[in-house]
Amino acid sequence: MRIAIASDHSAIKLKAELAAWLTGERHEVADLGPESGERVDYPDYGYKLAEHIASGQSDRGIALCGTGIGISIAVNRHPACRCALVSEPVSAGLSREHNDANVIALGARLIGLDMAMACVTVFLATAFASGRHGPRVEKLGAAPVPAT
Ligand code: RB5
Repeated sequence: MRIAIASDHSAIKLKAELAAWLTGERHEVADLGPESGERVDYPDYGYKLAEHIASGQSDRGIALCGTGIGISIAVNRHPACRCALVSEPVSAGLSREHNDANVIALGARLIGLDMAMACVTVFLATAFASGRHGPRVEKLGAAPVPAT
């Protein structure tokens, strides 16, 4: 699978660890930065990831910051993105099954590598259930607010 990953400075270690693991699992990983641990603003990387997903360059995205909150808000500003902030695998799976989430957000200061990997594993392996969830997800793409 083609997977893009982006973070802010607080999640640079988790980003590197997840990218290395996913590459080892034979996924095609696009690391959208940042490259160093220099202080950056999470909206910049959230928007970059959102554009990348919206343009179809990757199939799924992983968004990381200290809590996962800021960058998930940034990604979700794009109407093409459905970003789910999760901290355990059940929600990661349901975000795919019910919401067809195309980006997962994780808080690097709140969960460890093992839990992050467990969430991502389920996120990548779970299909959208469609059916009654289809029209609801379609409405998300037609939100009655202007995108920025
Ligand atoms: C950065 O210090 C921190 O605010 C950020 O990583 C994130 O937690 C914001 O939501």
